Amino acid sequence: MVYYSHNREETLKIAKEFAKSLKSGDIVLLYGDLGAGKTVFVKGVVSAFCSCVVTSPTFTIVNTYEANIPLYHFDLYRLQSEEELYDIGAEELLFGNGISLVEWPEKKSFWPPTCYKVSFEKIDETTRKICIGEA
Ligand SMILES: Nc1ncnc2c1ncn2[C@@H]1O[C@H](COP(=O)(O)OP(=O)(O)O)[C@@H](O)[C@H]1O
Ligand SMILES: [Mg+2]
Repeated sequence: MVYYSHNREETLKIAKEFAKSLKSGDIVLLYGDLGAGKTVFVKGVVSAFCSCVVTSPTFTIVNTYEANIPLYHFDLYRLQSEEELYDIGAEELLFGNGISLVEWPEKKSFWPPTCYKVSFEKIDETTRKICIGEA
């Protein structure tokens, strides 16, 4: 599915709609440059589950949002090595019963083929091309 979002609110809406298809155990990989809208998209997804405040986990690697289904928001941008992921117990989160949303998934070498893949392309200052696919 390809969408063109013309502002932040539109991206939130697209994400909230996409969230309806998510279930326990799902992993969503978010691809795209800095400022492409990955974190905004996560905010939209999270808003479908709780009114939690979403902040970028750039320095913490993962933020957890408590909802009916726990949500794990990863940002691997500053990950030094994959070992760090094991150290923080990421595998248990990723392969548990929550829903994981992962920014910068390129930092980890293996992902199950069943992950959702969402890619963001910055067309201009406020236009984003968002492709939502299932492997
Ligand atoms: N159509 C759009 N969709 C999402 N964000 C947009 C859009 N247009 C402008 N923006 C701005 O782009 C930035 C996206 O930031 P963010 O979601 O943190 O990016 P990323 O997590 O990919 O680095 C925000 O400042 C947001 O307000
Ligand atoms: Mg981000």
